[in-house]
Amino acid sequence: MTQRILVTGGAGYIGSTTCVALLEAGYEIVVVDNLANSSRTSLDRVLELAPGNLSFHEVDIRDADGLNAVFESAPIDAVIHFAGFKAVGESVAIPLAYYDTNVVGTINLLQVMQQNEVRNLVFSSSATVYGDPEQLPIPESAPLSAANPYGRTKLMIEDMLRDIAVSDPSWTIALLRYFNPVGAHPSGRIGEDPSGIPNNLMPFIMQVAVGRRKELVVFGNDYPTRDGTCIRDYIHVMDLAEGHLAALRALAEIGGCTAINLGTGTGSTVFEVFEAARRTVGHDIAMRVGERRPGDASACFADSSLAARLLDWRATRTIDEMCIDAWRWQSMNPNGYS
Ligand code: NAD
Ligand code: WQD
Repeated sequence: MTQRILVTGGAGYIGSTTCVALLEAGYEIVVVDNLANSSRTSLDRVLELAPGNLSFHEVDIRDADGLNAVFESAPIDAVIHFAGFKAVGESVAIPLAYYDTNVVGTINLLQVMQQNEVRNLVFSSSATVYGDPEQLPIPESAPLSAANPYGRTKLMIEDMLRDIAVSDPSWTIALLRYFNPVGAHPSGRIGEDPSGIPNNLMPFIMQVAVGRRKELVVFGNDYPTRDGTCIRDYIHVMDLAEGHLAALRALAEIGGCTAINLGTGTGSTVFEVFEAARRTVGHDIAMRVGERRPGDASACFADSSLAARLLDWRATRTIDEMCIDAWRWQSMNPNGYS
């Protein structure tokens, strides 16, 4: 029987890519998004890439009546919850907005789910919950901590979801801890469209390459790593999307509330990503080394064995494929969706 999945934040970067994968796999989808950090165009393009059954509701997840109306309009089998704010620096500047959207929004969603007897959830968590990791690769059992308000919202939501699953065993919840999602759909039609100055490395490099920014500043080359720059576990957004499908399929079998890393299991340095991007775009990209960015861990990469075991899922795409797809998206859409 066809399953209907409610996707909060489905117009965003990871959400839209996952919507394509869901439609291609034959799911029906109901997207809830208030377009705070996205555009309707992404969903038009999702349907162009994967014609299927997708309905869109411009609703804020903090609006209980609005959400309830969506649940009452069609039976929902499971929820993938992407909606939220995600910029670390901004969360330090406007913490209340982060607690409101991420934490209050999630509480509201969970209450509406409970009222409508929907208890299957895949949640967008983040490797940020590991803080400055002591152990590499990082297993799901590593100590959790948060270095900023954004990270604290993810940690609070994780704690809340663990409590709910203990209180009522009919909940099945996957906490997917993403490492560093990059790249785009290989069509170049949907991808990451950060508003303002990008915080993240890959969109910044691509915006310099396309002429929108002057130069990349590498935040420090005096870390104890192979070339002095920080190591991260970059994961192609297409692999991530497939990880969500794998989690949906495995939810019932796993049961309870389970945290699962979605990463490749290996890390790349900032210089390695930069070199891969330069090879891809085929011309020089302006770059200089600057000061360290406060709060950056020197290395962070996943132990990805639990995902392989529980979800039968592994990331397969290389750093070159990540750069090629990020560049196709950036060069075909130099100003994003606008
Ligand atoms: P995104 O900003 O592109 O997508 C989030 C979507 O949520 C947007 O479409 C936005 O309009 C929507 N939204 C925000 N507030 C809302 C509200 N109150 N009601 C309804 N919709 C709302 O971000 P993304 O990169 O696709 O991230 C998706 C999720 O994954 C987020 O929860 C983020 O914290 C998490 N995550 C992202 C990364 C990353 O590096 N991109 C890493 C780890 C975890
Ligand atoms: C990667 C590396 C920087 C920009 C963040 C969040 C995390 C998660 C993913 C949501 C670092 C360096 C970057 C630049 C640089 N998001 N860099 N110059 O910090 O690993 O993770 O996004 O959950 O919570 O913290 O990713 O892309 O910002 O940085 O040198 O202009 O690139 O120092 O080493 P990060 P990032």
